[in-house]
Amino acid sequence: MKIPFTDLYSQYEECKTDIDTAIHDIIKRSDYLTGKTVDKFENLISKYTGAEDCASTGSGTDALVCALKALGVSEADTVWTVGHTYISTTEAIATVGARPFFIDIDQYYHLDLEKVQDFNPDCPPAVILFVDLYGQTPNIDKLKHFAKKYKIKLIEDAAQSFGSKYKGSKVGSLVDLTCFSFNPVKNLGAMGDAGAVTGSKKLIEKVRMFRDHGRKSRLEYEKIGTNARIDNLQAVVVQAKLKKLDQWIKIKRQICHRYSSLLKNYVKVPKEAPWSYHTYYVYVIQTPKGTRDRLKEFLKNKGIETKIHYSIPTHKTKPYKQYSYVNLKLTENVCKNLLSLPCYHTLSMDEQNYIIKSIKDFYSN
Ligand SMILES: Cc1ncc(COP(=O)(O)O)c(C=O)c1O
Repeated sequence: MKIPFTDLYSQYEECKTDIDTAIHDIIKRSDYLTGKTVDKFENLISKYTGAEDCASTGSGTDALVCALKALGVSEADTVWTVGHTYISTTEAIATVGARPFFIDIDQYYHLDLEKVQDFNPDCPPAVILFVDLYGQTPNIDKLKHFAKKYKIKLIEDAAQSFGSKYKGSKVGSLVDLTCFSFNPVKNLGAMGDAGAVTGSKKLIEKVRMFRDHGRKSRLEYEKIGTNARIDNLQAVVVQAKLKKLDQWIKIKRQICHRYSSLLKNYVKVPKEAPWSYHTYYVYVIQTPKGTRDRLKEFLKNKGIETKIHYSIPTHKTKPYKQYSYVNLKLTENVCKNLLSLPCYHTLSMDEQNYIIKSIKDFYSN
């Protein structure tokens, strides 16, 4: 059996009529950037997430950079974040000239306020940029309480959690600004790069300005901005897939719950936080110490493709090791044992059983 890590083509097949029609329509109207297509897309994302407003962007990385700029983050500022995430989280902070400060993670792979050390309340960070890693949010109430006390703004890196919920509310309207990625492999994926920021009308207006050259109107420029606009072809692809998303997430969650119940005696399975509707962007196990690479190879020889999210924490990478942190024990330990298994709504029962049996065989011999 050959089991790839992702199956994007099936998503296309399921939405083929809508995608083909929408793309053809864009080409026919030569409607490639800005305008009604984008307005409609942004309204749909606001409606789905429950946010007051939405500004689409060229990517999730663009979304993070524009969100930081909209909150006025610059060279003078420190931004708290995590080292266990995709590189873009920290890259965005450095791009606006601010200093990232890394905080350790908890059992759910989230920024852990309990692990903040040497905090000077007279000198709080400007922003906490936390990550909904693997598809679930941290304890938002706890973060909000802390942020309110010290007048800190909150940005949610929700690149991996479109469609997730916190205490029943969709991700997108929980904190000051929320940043999404529609990278092809994400929960809701384009056929190239795309992203969005959601939040209040006032802040989203600023995001809109930064993503479009700092423009106030067609020929009036207010700020130094950039070109971080969505491509309309991507907007219509994402829009077509949005109709199917809840159903895809529902099936994916069933597969993940099945994995967890059948693998829990062999590996450490992901924990769902009590407040969370987890969308499992990726299904990540922690293997017993020293077995990860051998298991990966074993599965590869059985035709099962796996991935590692993420093997090197950001604070250990060349461009970012100049920035500060105190004690990142869990961040540095977990990355040695993580392995992501194939997990998508089209993964058949036979394929799931084959993956589960292969892992059991590996640890039983
Ligand atoms: C946690 C996280 N943040 C940011 C990004 C950046 O998104 P993009 O690839 O759309 O720029 C990604 C995904 O790639 C991500 O996983």
